[in-house]
Amino acid sequence: MNESLILGIESSCDDTSAAVICGNKILSNIAASQAIHKEYGGVVPELASRAHQQNIIPVVEKAFTKANIQQKQISAVGFTRGPGLLGSLLVGTSFAKSLAMSLNVPLIEVNHLQAHILAHFIDDANSMPPEFPFLCLTVSGGHTMIVLVKDYFDMEIIGKTTDDAAGEAFDKIGKIFGLDYPAGPIVDRLAKNGDENSFKFNKPRLENYDYSFSGIKTSVLYFIQKELKKNPDFIKENLDDLCASVQKSIIEILMEKLEKAAKDYGINHVAIAGGVSANSGLREAMKKNEEKLGWNIYIPKFEYTTDNAAMIAMVAQLKLERGEFTDLSAAATARYDL
Ligand code: KG4
Ligand code: ZN
Repeated sequence: MNESLILGIESSCDDTSAAVICGNKILSNIAASQAIHKEYGGVVPELASRAHQQNIIPVVEKAFTKANIQQKQISAVGFTRGPGLLGSLLVGTSFAKSLAMSLNVPLIEVNHLQAHILAHFIDDANSMPPEFPFLCLTVSGGHTMIVLVKDYFDMEIIGKTTDDAAGEAFDKIGKIFGLDYPAGPIVDRLAKNGDENSFKFNKPRLENYDYSFSGIKTSVLYFIQKELKKNPDFIKENLDDLCASVQKSIIEILMEKLEKAAKDYGINHVAIAGGVSANSGLREAMKKNEEKLGWNIYIPKFEYTTDNAAMIAMVAQLKLERGEFTDLSAAATARYDL
């Protein structure tokens, strides 16, 4: 891999992030998350794009300072073109275009979902990159899918959610328990002190490799409503056990289909990516399959699980090598297929 310096910019949802990469080594990866959404129990698009506008210049400046390089040293600017919230994407897209134009360097668009997957190719002293073909369970707040990755830019979605995403399930069920947004990491933390076999929730029965998470959400909601009528302190008294049981159910749903896909496709290189890949239970379940099923597993470094610009810079580097550049007229796009 060449040693070009590239700036990556990510602004698809509620994290403003900038990173500098040299070859496949990350020199800096700065993020400003937006606490404002906590009060609303979810991301408010208008507030997100306003916060991106406030954050983007300081975040980019910090990324250059931390990497100890000057703006004029970079060879390209990579940015998330989609998918995501249009108002949020617009901020990163406009900023990336202006910077590329003023520095007279190429602009490179990045698909956010490809970036979650290709984050596995960022240099890491402790692990090897995946071998092609591999399967990647891509699980975030907006997406849940099993991707067959044949090559860097040759990916096929073989299964996906038919309703909510796994991260959305964590967040919405956490909200039922009265937890702040995003509830995923809080459920993960509380689950560590709970008994995962305390409560059982309905699991979907779907054909092929597709997922559904709206059923478990409804099942938890009805169960909680019923219990609260008998005991108003039910959630408070059982919070850790509830979190552990919900987490177990979500992970079982995710792993069942992933195991089926690995078996059917005869692939034993299996990765996870996206915000939910930070979940300690899911990481554990993957590790168990190393022994049980003989998988070669690829678990991203914690800082590359949730939204970050390092993964955007990584994809931009791969595209720079291939001479794939983006015209300055390219518009941000809320939908962007793999
Ligand atoms: O990839 P990401 O940062 O943003 C999207 O592209 O959506 O994923 C965010 C999602 C949220 O739903 C959040 O609750 C979930 O990832 N998440 C977790 C954990 N950390 C983040 N879910 C479960 N356990 C975690 N430790
Ligand atoms: Zn994401």
